[in-house]
Amino acid sequence: MDQSVGDRDIRAGYKVTDFLALLRRPRAVLISVPAGDPVDQVIDEIVLGLESGDLVVDTGNSHFSDTNRRAEAFAEKELLYLGMGISGGEYGARHGPSIMPGGVQKGYDRIKPIVEAAAAHVDHTPCVAYLGPGSAGHYVKMVHNGIEYGIMQLIAETYDLMQRGMGLNAEALHRVYGEWAQGELGSYLVEITSDIFLRKDEKTGKPLVDLILDQAKQKGTGKWTSIEALELQVPLSTIHTAVSARDMSGYKEERKRASEAYQRPHEGEKLGSPFIQKLKDALYAGMVGCFAQGMALLHQASRAYDYHLSLETVATIWRGGCIIRAGLLENIRKAYAIRPDLPNLLLDPELGQVVAAKESSLREVVSTASRLRVPAPGLMTALSYLDAYRSERLPANLIMAQRDYFGAHKYERKDAQGTFHTQWMESEEKT
Ligand code: 6PG
Repeated sequence: MDQSVGDRDIRAGYKVTDFLALLRRPRAVLISVPAGDPVDQVIDEIVLGLESGDLVVDTGNSHFSDTNRRAEAFAEKELLYLGMGISGGEYGARHGPSIMPGGVQKGYDRIKPIVEAAAAHVDHTPCVAYLGPGSAGHYVKMVHNGIEYGIMQLIAETYDLMQRGMGLNAEALHRVYGEWAQGELGSYLVEITSDIFLRKDEKTGKPLVDLILDQAKQKGTGKWTSIEALELQVPLSTIHTAVSARDMSGYKEERKRASEAYQRPHEGEKLGSPFIQKLKDALYAGMVGCFAQGMALLHQASRAYDYHLSLETVATIWRGGCIIRAGLLENIRKAYAIRPDLPNLLLDPELGQVVAAKESSLREVVSTASRLRVPAPGLMTALSYLDAYRSERLPANLIMAQRDYFGAHKYERKDAQGTFHTQWMESEEKT
């Protein structure tokens, strides 16, 4: 069926065959359905009507391995395929999202004018750019979501510390996050956090956030990021912790039982207002840590999967439209513009200096959280990531000795080339 929609020159095909007949050849079809089976179902239906040179673009949060499989199947049929992550939620959909395309470059070139016009713009630059072959776009979107999990967890911990540790109410929290959003912490997630504290429940008049059940759900992209980091052996502790913290929140009933069983001797202690500045600095250092970990994963993945990613481009297109957009991304963009092969953002002299300046606040926040028994696993892992990353010496020598002791796994020495094994056991009794 060919039908006009409203007074616009938009025509709708209500059957796949009608829809495909409406498109100019070579066709370009954008799919926006939930990731997983729905994408395959739509592709299976559409592909029957496609001809050589036609293009399909999957704009969902598909797992990058599915995108690789689909891209290969398309290439065999001489069809073009793009995996194109989109971030920005409902607001982004209406006002311009950040768009992360990957796949066949000539496919991207065909839709470039449309997606550039649709994307958010920062400094007259569209928040979209071709990222690389195969599943590069969906991989970058997955890591975007991992960073999103990390930052959300860190913000949630600062909220917990201000509410439980300082007794701040929703109105005060609205003001604190509002002020933070004006400065170096300026970011979409901090902004919406401030807004959230303002909203009252219509029925009770209470702050709505206080009535929301404390069990965080997830669709899985954070977990995928975590699994991928484990596969590629990239340390990603803050993001792993953010996924784990959502899992922990799910055990509401058990947490209730455990909270009744254990005493909380420091509950009475209240923190003074200077603690807010410490939290602000700790959050900034933690946010840099989340970006550093996510970008380090992209750095390794680019090599492992031949994506040839430009991390400067990734930072550029994340500056607007997406959920993790933040003023900090401009500093990150600059860091990669100067050193495109930087393995970790903490090695950038400027960002490194900023983190170093905030380190003592992060340490104080972590020790205060520990004293108050307010869980702050994201901030804690952000600190230990920093401590481990800049520690030339780690106790892994002992781990190697233990492995060699119980499994003859061998070790390398500081003072000689090659691998070595020691007969550690003096007698059989120690086995
Ligand atoms: C975005 C969001 C988007 C979505 C997430 C939520 O970039 O626009 O990340 O992809 O809101 O899927 O993820 P969880 O349900 O796992 O929190």
